[in-house]
Amino acid sequence: MCGIVGFAGSRSAAPLLLQGLYRLEYRGYDSAGMALLEQGSLRVIKTRGRIANLEEKLEAEGPFSACCGIGHTRWATHGEPSDINAHPHISDNGRVALVHNGIIENYLELREMLQKAGFTIRTQTDSEVVAHLFQMYYQGDAVAALGETVKRLRGSYALGVITADAPGQLVCTRRDNPLIIGLGQGETMIASDIPAILAVTREYIVLSDYQVAKITAGKIEIVDQWGAPVAPKIERVTWDISAAEKGGYEHFMMKEICEQPKAVQDTITPRLKNGLPQLAEEGLTDDMLRKARTIHITACGSALHAGLVGKQLLERLARVPVSAQVASEFRYGEPIIGPEDLCVVISQSGETADTLAALRLAKKKGAQTVAVVNVVSSSIAREADGVLYTWAGPEISVATTKAYSAQLAALYLMAIRTGLARGTLGEEEARQWCKQVGELPRLLEQMLECREQMQHLASLYANRQSMFFIGRGTDYSACQEASLKLKELSYIHSEAYAAGELKHGPISLIEPGTLVIALACDPTLTGKTLSNVKSVKARGASVILVTNDPALRENPEFCDHLVRAPICPPLLSPSLSILPMQLLGYYTAVMRGCDVDKPRNLAKSVTVE
Ligand code: AGP
Repeated sequence: MCGIVGFAGSRSAAPLLLQGLYRLEYRGYDSAGMALLEQGSLRVIKTRGRIANLEEKLEAEGPFSACCGIGHTRWATHGEPSDINAHPHISDNGRVALVHNGIIENYLELREMLQKAGFTIRTQTDSEVVAHLFQMYYQGDAVAALGETVKRLRGSYALGVITADAPGQLVCTRRDNPLIIGLGQGETMIASDIPAILAVTREYIVLSDYQVAKITAGKIEIVDQWGAPVAPKIERVTWDISAAEKGGYEHFMMKEICEQPKAVQDTITPRLKNGLPQLAEEGLTDDMLRKARTIHITACGSALHAGLVGKQLLERLARVPVSAQVASEFRYGEPIIGPEDLCVVISQSGETADTLAALRLAKKKGAQTVAVVNVVSSSIAREADGVLYTWAGPEISVATTKAYSAQLAALYLMAIRTGLARGTLGEEEARQWCKQVGELPRLLEQMLECREQMQHLASLYANRQSMFFIGRGTDYSACQEASLKLKELSYIHSEAYAAGELKHGPISLIEPGTLVIALACDPTLTGKTLSNVKSVKARGASVILVTNDPALRENPEFCDHLVRAPICPPLLSPSLSILPMQLLGYYTAVMRGCDVDKPRNLAKSVTVE
């Protein structure tokens, strides 16, 4: 959503804050800014546009001697991207600077109250009111002032605040938005996510909701919402910064596409013991799986698309009823869920607001909850009863690839374990499934060989105005992720349709030149899908067929191009067929001059509703 950073130490703050912001740019890139505490006054530098624009302004207005400051990179929610709406926001008296990630839902009433109290509102944002409120409550104790300020707020926030009255000090707090505190040698950094603190430290604290921290050079004091001191748990980053850098690739996305074999391997290996999935230590016990009346899967975007495949696996292998629903519908749909049910939430970031809210609703209704999450100690990971981490490593590109693949791998193991727990899978059969899952990293390496072909296909079709993805069964679930990849990266409108549904309306959209991409990796359904393909071909569509059927050849009767996938069980085929689709989206975006890693209007973690 947005990225916030803060620093207090004895080194110059500006370069460290800037580097931290660059590492959070995937969280939002509409505007960027910094506030520095210099000789008892605030210097604020902020600008519309990318962090590179901020860097130019810093070079023009520097140098800066400040050793304490805050920074922000924005994904605009309230108020257009502009210089004035960029964070940090300044209080009416000019003595307080604040950065905010989240949404203040009652900002209009607060704005009205402040205006009546004589405050001047300068921006269109919700965040500005928090700076004025802090000024209103500040009597010299920044922790107390921040505690009083947030009592007036409805909504979500991660806040960093500095005051000209307290040189070298910053205070911060959070609710439903991530905030970590990096513990350096005589210096401290706050940030929305781990990559931003790695220049300073690998040790960090995850602040909990409502806790307030006061930070000076190398010193931290944390209190809970009642003012009682908190002894925080210190965590250590398990990966190095190179994992969050491009490593020679032109884009993070290509790097992460190529990391998928390892991401899947790292997610599977630690959980296979004696050839079977062992998940109990992560809170997913056989008792929980056996007793579940219904399994509710809920997530957003690509995470839900992984959940759709998980639904098919669980129903086929464990014969348990599974619902899969977008979290923003689940949370407002009065779901029929209770203590006898299991809720599985899936999230790369572990911070998606709708998914977090769905998790909380499921818990409130008494359901057991399990999270499939990629970010350790994220909000969703910490609030679920059980956590299956996807060991994909940091995923920087906004369009997810390796995390989606790792989510599939985790869900495969969950489905196999559920089949064992419910007696629908014998040990030998379960071992066979695990063996097949264990083959996926090698088959993904093989699938990566289609890069040149996908680059060529993208060059042929990059200017089409719309694309259709069609398939049946797990191919249809893969189509939904394929379609999202293409549209979010290249801005071409595309739709995923169950192949059998075309004749019920959408086929009227097919005309000469329409591109249809058909996934056919389930031999029991290929024939049916091919008849749908022939019907669109007969109406002039161009067809790309992705299949693992060795009997099929390129044939103008039903396809213009054939992309060959390795053979694997149909239930696991999305893990492979999605890779050429990721590449198609990638290369199409490159050819259309789109910003591959930071597509317009998007952010990596959507921590607002
Ligand atoms: C996927 O490419 C998108 N970036 C988006 O759909 C994403 O999957 C969704 O916002 C969910 O994010 P999460 O996995 O971090 O919860």
